Amino acid sequence: MAGNAEGLARHRHVHSQTAPTGRDGGAWRCFTGGPNRVLHGMASRNRKAGRLAPAGAGDTGKEDRSSSSTAWTMQEQTQGTDTMHHQTVIVVGASSGMGLAAARLFLERGATVWMVARDMERLQNAASSLGSERARVLSADVGSDEGRARIVAVAPQVDHLVITAADLVYKPSQALCEAEVMRAVRSKVVGPYLLAAACAARMPEHGSITLVSGVAAERPIAGGSVTGMVNGAINAMVRGLALELAPIRVNAVSPGWVDTPFWGQVASAERREQLFAAMRDKIPTRRISTVEDVAQMIEVAMTNKAVSGTTLYVDGGQRLV
Ligand SMILES: NC(=O)c1ccc[n+]([C@@H]2O[C@H](COP(=O)([O-])OP(=O)(O)OC[C@H]3O[C@@H](n4cnc5c(N)ncnc54)[C@H](OP(=O)(O)O)[C@@H]3O)[C@@H](O)[C@H]2O)c1
Repeated sequence: MAGNAEGLARHRHVHSQTAPTGRDGGAWRCFTGGPNRVLHGMASRNRKAGRLAPAGAGDTGKEDRSSSSTAWTMQEQTQGTDTMHHQTVIVVGASSGMGLAAARLFLERGATVWMVARDMERLQNAASSLGSERARVLSADVGSDEGRARIVAVAPQVDHLVITAADLVYKPSQALCEAEVMRAVRSKVVGPYLLAAACAARMPEHGSITLVSGVAAERPIAGGSVTGMVNGAINAMVRGLALELAPIRVNAVSPGWVDTPFWGQVASAERREQLFAAMRDKIPTRRISTVEDVAQMIEVAMTNKAVSGTTLYVDGGQRLV
C-alpha cells in the first residue's frame, strides 16, 4: 500500500491522490500536516492581534474602532470571512455543481479542502479553477468499500464532512432493474452512511457531517421515485446519526431544483429551460436557487452549533407547491 503514495499527482496548485495509501498514509500525512500547521499559526496570530481592540477599548469601557482600526480589521478578518482557518473539510461530490460551490466557499473561509469525486480529470479541472493551494483532490467512489477507505485515509483529522455526491437513475419503477436502484442507493445512502460513521471517529467534538438530500423526498416526480426514496432516507438518516455520533452534529440540506451539470443527464438544454421557467413561475421565491445558495446553507449546517439532526430546506419553497 505504501508504494501507492507514488501515485500522487500534482496539477498546478492542486495536490491529488489517485491510489490508496495505508490508513496512516505516512508520507501523505506529512504533506497535509505542513500547510495546516502554517495556517494554524497564522490564525493564532490573527486572533491575538484581533483581541487587542476590544481589550484596549475595555480600559475606557468603550469600543473605539477608529483608534485601533488595524486590530479591528484583523479581528473582522478572522471572525468574518476567514472562519475556517486550520480546519479540514472533505467534500464528496466536489467536482461539479453544489459540491464545487461548497468547496469554493470553504477555501474562501481559509479551510483545507479535500475535493472527492470519481473522475480525476474533471476533479483536477474543478480544483484548478479554484486556484487555491489548500485544494486537494482525491478520486474515490463513495459507494464502494475501497473508495470510502481511501477517503478516510487522506485526512488524519477531519473537522467537517460534506457529501453532495449522487449517482441517480430516472426511469419508471417498472423499467428499473435492481442494479440501477442499488447504484443510486449505494452512492447516496449506504455509502454516505458508512463514510459518516468512519469519519466521525476522526473528528473533534466541534465536527459536523452534512448530507444533501433534495425536494424529491417531499415532491417526487414520475420517473424519479428512486430519487425520492434516497432523499427521504437521508432526511431520516441524519436524525439517527445525530444521536449516535453526538456530539458531532449531523444534518441534511435539502435543495429544490438547481441548475447544475446534473441536469444534462436528464433533459436536453431546451427542455431544461422550459422546466426551469415553469418552476420559476410556480415557487414562492420566483427564482431558481443557485449552487451558492446551497453552499451557504451547508455552511450554516456546518457552523451553527445548535443545529443537529435536522433537514435545512433551501428550495425557494418548492416543497410547498
Ligand atoms: N441539481 C438539482 O436540481 C438537485 C435538486 C435536488 C437535490 N439535488 C441533490 O444535490 C446533490 C448535488 O447535486 P448536483 O446537481 O450538484 O450534482 P452534479 O453536478 O451532478 O455533481 C455530482 C458530483 O458527485 C460526484 N459523484 C457522483 N457519484 C459519486 C460517487 N459514487 N462517489 C463519489 N462522487 C460521486 C460527481 O463526480 P463523478 O461523477 O466524477 O464521481 C460530481 O462531482 C445530489 O445529491 C443531488 O441529488 C440536486
